[in-house]
Order: sequence, then structure tokens, then C-alpha cells
Amino acid sequence: MADAPIPIGRARSAPSRQAVDLVIHGIGTMVTPAGAEPPLRGDLLGRVITVSGAAIAVRNGMIVEAGPELQVRAAVEVDSRTHLLDARGMLAIPGFVDCHAHPLFAGDRAAEFELRSRGADYRDILAAGGGIGSTIAQTDAAPDAELRAQVDMHLDWMLRAGTTTTEMKSGYASGIAQELRLLGIGMQAAAGHPIDTSLTCLAAHAVPAGFEGDADAWIDEVAIPTLGQAASEGRAAQADVFLEEGTFDASQARRYLEAAAALGLGLRLHADQFTRQGGIELAIELGARSVDHLEATDADGISRLAASRVAAVLLPTSAHFLGRPAPPGRQLIDAGAVVALASDFNPGSSFAESLPLAMHLAAVGSGMTAAESLSAATINGAWVLGLHRVAGRIQQGYRADIVLCDQPDLRHLAYHAGTPGIEGVVKHGLPVVGIDAPADDAPPPPEAAF
Ligand code: NIG
Ligand code: FE
Repeated sequence: MADAPIPIGRARSAPSRQAVDLVIHGIGTMVTPAGAEPPLRGDLLGRVITVSGAAIAVRNGMIVEAGPELQVRAAVEVDSRTHLLDARGMLAIPGFVDCHAHPLFAGDRAAEFELRSRGADYRDILAAGGGIGSTIAQTDAAPDAELRAQVDMHLDWMLRAGTTTTEMKSGYASGIAQELRLLGIGMQAAAGHPIDTSLTCLAAHAVPAGFEGDADAWIDEVAIPTLGQAASEGRAAQADVFLEEGTFDASQARRYLEAAAALGLGLRLHADQFTRQGGIELAIELGARSVDHLEATDADGISRLAASRVAAVLLPTSAHFLGRPAPPGRQLIDAGAVVALASDFNPGSSFAESLPLAMHLAAVGSGMTAAESLSAATINGAWVLGLHRVAGRIQQGYRADIVLCDQPDLRHLAYHAGTPGIEGVVKHGLPVVGIDAPADDAPPPPEAAF
């Protein structure tokens, strides 16, 4: 039987190759979380995919091919418009997804940090109106332009540390208008910055001046109405509460979270940071996405979390900053809980945006391997934010958010304390930090040979 006619102009057996905008080649080792459906838990958390001699091809900001360099080279069409980025043998990992961060603030608390170095206690400072109260005052006082500039600076720091997607919690505000302003500034900053963001309304963060001793009034008169406006104006995807002795109790947290759930917001809790107040039980009952901190969590809390779909978000830089016990990462993973790792970047309890630093502290204090920490700080962080279909993996169909580190292998990212060696960050297929990132007003760099 005669063969079917071959359309003119097409070679008979040539596979169709995709034209691409960017190829990152010369990757020494590429590491990405296991391919299973998120969230990852148990053994899967540490079962990363490792490819030596890899390349990543990108079209329209998304990964179209990633794997052994020869395979990528065979699958894509490189032409004169393709940008070729030579990774010079470096380690490539997915951009970090920081699912717990507070970058929306002005000012700093360096003076408080010094006081704490000399023995003052974080919760005593908070109870005396300092701490979170001090950042609320500094933030409220900052004009829009100044606040925006500071938020931009925080996002720049995060991007340089390899974070390509971050949460932005509000929470440093003394009323409804101030809280909504903070979320609005967050939206403006996000629109003008390469980093991807997800906004969380943390209107139940502290009981500010004027509401002392009346947390109920703050919840009912300020926090819940703020949620309503934030949700109706599309200013937040999630809602969060600080459930802690001296701040908001379990019944106040419940009221606030039930209101958030009715508005369709995802639920998050700061809980078990200093004391156990029933946060894990409440999170499970209400179907929260996560419960975060857990420095005070016991074996019962660990087994409850392991039997649930609520993620345990660990914040080792915060525990370290406050001299608290490290969160029980090993126990949570071994019990089968969903574990994510985040920075808690904020001016008081974690002035530290670096997820490689969190990986180091998770290794030393929480018994986590670098592979477990990588999955926890990428795909599982993305799951907490509901972004796990587009962020947190080096895989076809995911955003081309790649970090290039001058490290021999993944273990060194946790091992080399304070020196992550981040030499390049690619965001949505564009080099934005380090290697090949355009300098201010500079023409694009010449292309290397692929
Ligand atoms: O996650 N615990 C409450 N909130 C933040 C601290 C904020 C601050 O100290 O400014 C946290 O640690
Ligand atoms: Fe926090």
C-alpha cells in the first residue's frame, strides 16, 4: 500500500520542534521536587529529581522542556531571537515560594533587637505596646510613596535571595482604612515588581493602641469588616490570625476565620508559637490551608496534623530570631504531615528573607535534609498559597522561575551557612538577578553559543 502523501515543505520524519525564547544551558545539576501530586508528605518530600548536565527551555515565560541537555536541544528550535543563558555548571533549582511573609511594613525594629540582645523579652515588649505595635505606628505614619518604596525594597531583597513568589500579609495597621491601604500598596508593588505575590489579610495580628484589653471589639468592629472589604475589592486571597495568649484567643480566632471562610478566603493561622491555644484543632476543624510556627507543638498536635490536610508551615528563622525551640520538622515529616518552609520575613521576629538560611536552620535544628527543605520551600509553599499548578517546580507548564547557585550540589545550599551562592535568578523566563540580568540602562548582553 502506498504511503500517504507527505505535505510539501515538511521533512518526513522530522519531529516538530518548538521555537523558544530562552534556553538555560550548561546546568551542572538541576534539582526539583518529586513529580507526585502536591502537597508532598512523608518520604516524597525528600525524593527530589536530580539531573546532571541539564538545560531548561522557555517560551512565553513558561517552561516547555527541562531535562538532560541533549534531550532539550533535540526538542526545541533555537533561532536568532532565542536568548541563550550559560549556567556555567551551576546548580539550578526552582525559585523559592515563600508562603509566610510580612513584607508590607515601614521602618525597622533594630533598637528592639538590641534590647532583646541585652535580655528584654519579645512578649513583654509586645505587651508594653512595642513590638508589632511599634511597626503599626511606623507604618501608619509613612506616606504612601515612602511605604511603597520600602515594600519594593523588601521584594528586591527577597528576589535576590532566590524567592520568586511570595505571600504578602497585611497586619501592621491600626484600623480598617489603614489595613486596606496596606493591601492596596501591596497590590501596586506587586504590579510593578517581577516577583509574584499572593495577598493575605492579617487584620487579626495585634490589638493596637485604642483597643487595649478589648480584643473582641477589634475582631468585631475592625478585623471582620476589613475582611469583608478586602474580599469584595479583591485585595486578599487568604486570611490569617495570630492565635496566642495575650493576643487573640481561640473563640476570637474562630469568629474571624469563619467570617473569612464565608467570604471565600483561604484560612491561615499563626499558632503554637509560644503556647498551645487549640490552634491546630481549630485549623483542622475549619479546613484551614495551614497552621504556622508550631515551636510549642507537642506529640498530640503532630499526630493530629499528620492525619489532616492542613500544612505545617515551619519558620525556623523566626524561632532562631527569638531564641525559641526549633519547630519539630523531623517529627512532622516522619508522622506524615504536610510540611512547608517559609521565612516569616518581618521586622520583629524574623528580619530574614533568605530561604537558604531557613534551610540551614531546618537542617541544624529541625532535622530536615536539604531535599526535604527544598520541596517544603517550593512546591509545598506553592500548595499553601494555591499556586502549585504554576509555581514550585522545574517542569513543563510551570512558570520559568529558576535560581542558579554556585554550589556543587543541593546539600551545600543548606550546609554553607549564610552563603547560598545565588548567582542568577530567572523570573518568568527573564534574567532578573545576577547572570545576564540587564544592568540599569544597559543593552542586553551578547548571546553565548549553545
Ligand atoms: O509571625 N507572631 C506574630 N507575627 C509575626 C511577628 C511580627 C512582628 O514581630 O512584627 C510572626 O512572628
Ligand atoms: Fe508571621
